[in-house]
Order: sequence, then C-alpha cells, then structure tokens
Amino acid sequence: MKRLEGKTALITGAARGIGRAFAEAYVREGARVAIGDIDMDRACATVAEIGDAAIAVEMDVTRQQSIDAAVASTVRAFGQIDILINNAAIFSAAPIVEIERADYARVFDINVSGTLFTMQAVARHMIENGIKGRIINMASQAGRRGEPLVAVYCASKAAVISLTQSAGLNLIGHGINVNAIAPGVVDGEHWDGVDAFFAKYEGKAPGQKKREVGEAVPYGRMGRAEDLTGMAVFLASDEAEYIVAQCYNVDGGQWMS
Ligand SMILES: NC(=O)c1ccc[n+]([C@@H]2O[C@H](COP(=O)([O-])OP(=O)(O)OC[C@H]3O[C@@H](n4cnc5c(N)ncnc54)[C@H](O)[C@@H]3O)[C@@H](O)[C@H]2O)c1
Repeated sequence: MKRLEGKTALITGAARGIGRAFAEAYVREGARVAIGDIDMDRACATVAEIGDAAIAVEMDVTRQQSIDAAVASTVRAFGQIDILINNAAIFSAAPIVEIERADYARVFDINVSGTLFTMQAVARHMIENGIKGRIINMASQAGRRGEPLVAVYCASKAAVISLTQSAGLNLIGHGINVNAIAPGVVDGEHWDGVDAFFAKYEGKAPGQKKREVGEAVPYGRMGRAEDLTGMAVFLASDEAEYIVAQCYNVDGGQWMS
C-alpha cells in the first residue's frame, strides 16, 4: 500500500538536491507534490522528469507575497495542502571576523524567516480548513553545535530546531504535527559549494573536504539525498501521528541526541 495516497504536499527548494528526492519519494508513495523554488527553470525541468503528480510553483521564501502566492497556487492546483516540507536553505561560511551583515541577513532571511513564515502561511490554511497536517522542517547537524567557520549557518539551523519545537507545541493543538530532520553531510550540488568554501578558508584542494567528511562519518560515507527520504515519508505518514516537536538525526551516526 502507498503510504501517502491521496495526500498533497508543498516542498520548498525542491528543484534539486534533497528536496527533489523528497518530491520523487512522495510521488512514489501516492502524493501529489508542488515544487516551490526560486529557480523556476530547474523546477520545471524536475517536474518534467517526475511527471503529472508534480507541479512547479514559483516561490521565494524571503518574500511574504511570494509565499502567499505559492500557497494559493498549490491549493488551486490540488484543493488543499496536507504536508509542508520547509527545505529551501542556503549555506555560508566565514571566520567570525569576516562575517558580513548582508550575508548574515540573507542566510537568516531564507533559512529562518523563510521557514517560519512558510510554516505560518501553511498552518493558517490547515487550521482554516480543519486539515490535520504535517510540517517537516529541514534542520542540520550544524544546528546541534557550532563550527569554527560556519557560525551563521549553524545558528540558522539551531533556530530551525527551536522553531520546530515551539511550532510543534503550538500547532499540535490544531492536530498539526511539526517535526524536523537533521541530516549530516549529504553529497550533491549544495556540498560542492560547501567544499569550495573550505578550499578557500582551509587551503584545501577541491574535493578534499568532501573526502574527509565522508571518511569521518561512522557509517563510512557521505549521505545521499535518498538516505533521507524514508524519514520524510514516515513523518508525513499516519504512523507518525504521535510524534510532536522532534528533530531526527539522519546522518550515518554523526550526532547523538
Ligand atoms: N546537503 C547537505 O549536506 C545538508 C546537510 C544538512 C542539512 N541540509 C539541509 O537540507 C536542505 C536541502 O539541502 P540541499 O543539499 O538539497 O540544498 P540545495 O542547495 O541543493 O537546494 C536548495 C534549493 O533551495 C532553493 N532556494 C534557494 N533559495 C530559495 C528561496 N529564497 N526561495 C525558494 N527556494 C530557494 C534552491 O534554488 C535549491 O533548489 C537545506 O535546508 C539544507 O540546509 C543539507
């Protein structure tokens, strides 16, 4: 039996990477999925590959109008939203003395405000329509502890974990479960960017940081986007109804909490 049959989902930042893998897994499990992304060319290409159960929705999670429009288009297309995954985020790294205000603001705007206000818009829709929905926020092992060169991104993901706890406690009163997933290091275009940051700040050769972090994972390799889909399907399924305000590590044994 398909575990998300008849459900509808909005996944932010799903044009590529982990969000795309979530979209594919949800469609395999019987859901219809709106891919909300700022990169519409990529979102449309992804939808063309996934097929009829997916649609592309233009969405910039830093702009309230864009969030509201994306929620409205998804509801117009599917009738309602049962599941939201707040997945869109950007990475940034710099030593403390080199952090720039504009970079800090951009990271927090996308990773934290984007998560909060998309969650708010979809929660309002769920409450108004009596939908016992699911919200999954993408945290990170970076949100569990600081890192010397990654202060801003780490702080943004710690904020996502905290928002998940508060929203989880608040929204369960409406029958909406809010939880988070904390991946470790997941290979893909995102990590190509991370690798480039470390090449710059730690003087490493391109690809070296990736190799090192992969070897350091207790499981023995970097994660793949597909390693995370089981948790994303589970948290959206009926089996997860009693799970509230939690953040699950899916990281090959990197972090224990
Ligand atoms: N890759 C990893 O190692 C890793 C580890 C831990 C947590 N995560 C988290 O998992 C999630 C997905 O990561 P990924 O590796 O697939 O990232 P990615 O960079 O490959 O994809 C991010 C997507 O978000 C979109 N996006 C960026 N800004 C946006 C905006 N303002 N509005 C809407 N969409 C926007 C991008 O266009 C892109 O499609 C992120 O929240 C990330 O922080 C990733």
